[in-house]
Amino acid sequence: MRNIDEHTITAAVLDRMSGCEDARLKEVMSALVRHLHDFAREVKLTEAEWAAGIDFLTATGQKCDAQRQEFILLSDTLGLSMLTVAMNHAKSPQATEATVFGPFHVAGAPQLPLGSDIAGGAVGEPLFVEASVRGRDGEPIADAVVDVWEADAEGFYDVQRPGDHPQGRAVFRTNAEGRLWFRGVAPVAYPIPTDGPVGAMLRATRRHPWRPAHVHFMIQAPGYETLITHVFREGDPYLDSDAVFGVRSSLIGNFAAHAPGRAPDGSLQDGPFHTLDFAFVLERQAPGNCAAQSG
Ligand code: BEZ
Ligand code: FE
Repeated sequence: MRNIDEHTITAAVLDRMSGCEDARLKEVMSALVRHLHDFAREVKLTEAEWAAGIDFLTATGQKCDAQRQEFILLSDTLGLSMLTVAMNHAKSPQATEATVFGPFHVAGAPQLPLGSDIAGGAVGEPLFVEASVRGRDGEPIADAVVDVWEADAEGFYDVQRPGDHPQGRAVFRTNAEGRLWFRGVAPVAYPIPTDGPVGAMLRATRRHPWRPAHVHFMIQAPGYETLITHVFREGDPYLDSDAVFGVRSSLIGNFAAHAPGRAPDGSLQDGPFHTLDFAFVLERQAPGNCAAQSG
């Protein structure tokens, strides 16, 4: 095909992929090309804007390393991560809702006994969490693997600080009654990293980078859908403007503040502390579906 113009180029590219034998790949790539071309035609993309877009994506890739995932941040701030989660986790109203995974989960966090302190020296007021993990019919889920991660009171995850000592993260297993409990630090609202191209995009579009205070959970149990979610702190000023669009009303928990005194683990606290009680409900896995959540 020759003499391609702005009206015929889309069909030409689609035709070039007509031999693709992977039906799903062909569907996804064809839709991507159609939407990209329509986008360029709609905004009448200039060559300078095209070059700026290429520079932006190049800088996004260059910002990535083993600790920093700028592309996930880009997907999160453009709402693509939450859109993908929402489309793939339309569950029954009883089940706990999923939200974004975010870039700060670390595989292989320390496995700790129930009741442990996950802070590992992280700064913050103590938080005592008690939670239950049940199925939709109320059955307790014993031995569920529960990954927990959170930022410290300065709004940083351990991977954002020098050193490789785990702080604010651990893996627990629920007991026979499907319960878990641990100590951490009370979460605070924090800005997502803004020292890269995503931060520049937020500033250019006059957006703030803040996420409301939350604790992350990933819960896995045989026969149930893996749940990746957060519990957000009730009353946080950013609940309605989360930079990554992750807040669900059902995920807002009461992080109760307490004056100094006896904590749930029996310890005497000489400063203020917080407690959180939350019930997680997992969806049974559909037969033949063992895919985990991503994004
Ligand atoms: C987080 O909650 O850890 C997070 C999620 C999305 C982007 C940045 C951080
Ligand atoms: Fe987070």
